[in-house]
Amino acid sequence: MKLSPSLLSADFGRLAEEARAVEGIASYLHFDVMDGHFVPNLTFGPPVVNALRRHSTLPLDIHLMIDRPALYAPRFEVGAEDVITFHVEAKDPPRRALEAIRGLGCRVGISLRPGTPLSAIVPYLPEVDWVLVMSVEPGFGGQAFRPEALDRIRNLRRLIGNRAITIAVDGGINADNVRQVVEAGAEVIVAGSAIYGKPDPAAAARELLRAADA
Ligand code: DX5
Ligand code: ZN
Repeated sequence: MKLSPSLLSADFGRLAEEARAVEGIASYLHFDVMDGHFVPNLTFGPPVVNALRRHSTLPLDIHLMIDRPALYAPRFEVGAEDVITFHVEAKDPPRRALEAIRGLGCRVGISLRPGTPLSAIVPYLPEVDWVLVMSVEPGFGGQAFRPEALDRIRNLRRLIGNRAITIAVDGGINADNVRQVVEAGAEVIVAGSAIYGKPDPAAAARELLRAADA
């Protein structure tokens, strides 16, 4: 399992320091970009993400919870190891978002809200590198994990077959449930409050990794 700590639960006044705290433990850094339209919350956008990439060697995992991913994705400075994920429910047509992100030379991720059927993303599977399964309603950190996500991960695993697509899971994951999520088929675990909500984020990240293969 690989860990992608979400800075949504970090101290926004010390983002560079918070990013550095998980260096050498995590495999990605997860950025929750929210526009106040796709979700009822606002966070940060390309200037903040682009500034932070200079403070971390970790690949960026950029989760766009915005209505216009095709319009804004090109403003992120990304390379081949980074991933930008858009939502299939966004206002921009999925194919336009896909092409815009692909054109940046990074990996392409697709995500869906807990209430959206898996069938909504099936047409795009041949064109994506990563699927982000939401195990909470997007918009806020610190919500409870929705157990129905486990079946969804298993079903997605079957749909993916032998294609090289990474399954990432986001929302409500902590040391008590991480093992179940990994056993269901998750390869990347996004965690916000279980890491940055703790007094020692590095220790909390190590504990999550340990709990995953305990
Ligand atoms: C929710 C975000 C998540 C959030 C997860 O909309 O997509 O990445 O940071 O936070 P926790 O781990 O606290 O549920
Ligand atoms: Zn996220």
